Amino acid sequence: MLNIFSSAKKNKQQQCLIEQKIPNHVAIIMDGNGRWAKKRHLPRIAGHKEGMNTIRIITKTASNLGVKVLTLYAFSTENWKRPKDEVNFIMHLPIDFFNQFMPELMENDVKVEVIGNLAPLPEKTRDAVLNAVEMTKNNRGMILNFALNYGSRLEIVQAVQQIALLAKNNELQIDDIDEALIENYLMTSFLKQYQDPELVIRTSGEERISNFLLWQIAYSEFYFTDVLWPDFKEEQFITALKAFQQRNRRFGGLQEDNQ
Ligand code: FPP
Repeated sequence: MLNIFSSAKKNKQQQCLIEQKIPNHVAIIMDGNGRWAKKRHLPRIAGHKEGMNTIRIITKTASNLGVKVLTLYAFSTENWKRPKDEVNFIMHLPIDFFNQFMPELMENDVKVEVIGNLAPLPEKTRDAVLNAVEMTKNNRGMILNFALNYGSRLEIVQAVQQIALLAKNNELQIDDIDEALIENYLMTSFLKQYQDPELVIRTSGEERISNFLLWQIAYSEFYFTDVLWPDFKEEQFITALKAFQQRNRRFGGLQEDNQ
């Protein structure tokens, strides 16, 4: 895998980033595809199509910069409320994405993962995603984690149900329930030490979380930008990382010079 920090290809903008302070896990709420299309008098689906191209660019950029996990909110449990034609189009995007970009994902050693309830997805969409997970399972580079038909409240409900069942069957005591145990039952548990994103980005000027990784973002830094997702390319991603690197992360403690 190309590491931008040891590469002659490092551009001026990348030079301003501190290698040691690249966030391990970046999570993105990709928003603004519809508005991007509307501004151009195009159908909303044109925005989703361009949004898919942005996924490709940000995946490559994040992977080159040494991000370990990139979680992308591709479809929420609430997105089914959209017009049927739009939902059908979005459901086709994973098929197109992996058809077009699998060679590039392999080249960059990217490992595809997915969180969310895949059962209600159209069979072809589910197969495309599961096939990508299978094909990339031995890759050791960045994890590209798609949140697909994902909702964080549902994730927490499911975790509580599983834990309650263990308690009911006397397989665990109430005192055994702690943060670490709850994390083990979240859909992100396979990410282990990288389960919590250090940085959450939302594009398009909206400043809300929309049922995304509610547990995992307890200490995340947020970066909101007016840029619409189809326009959010390498330059904008690096700007977000720079903003992150200037933050003072205290995790509820004191600033270093106050200690
Ligand atoms: C938000 O824009 C975008 C979405 C709800 C869908 C984005 C999903 C993809 C690009 C699918 C990619 C999936 C894979 C697995 C490659 P919006 O429609 O909410 O925009 P608006 O707020 O301007 O209307």
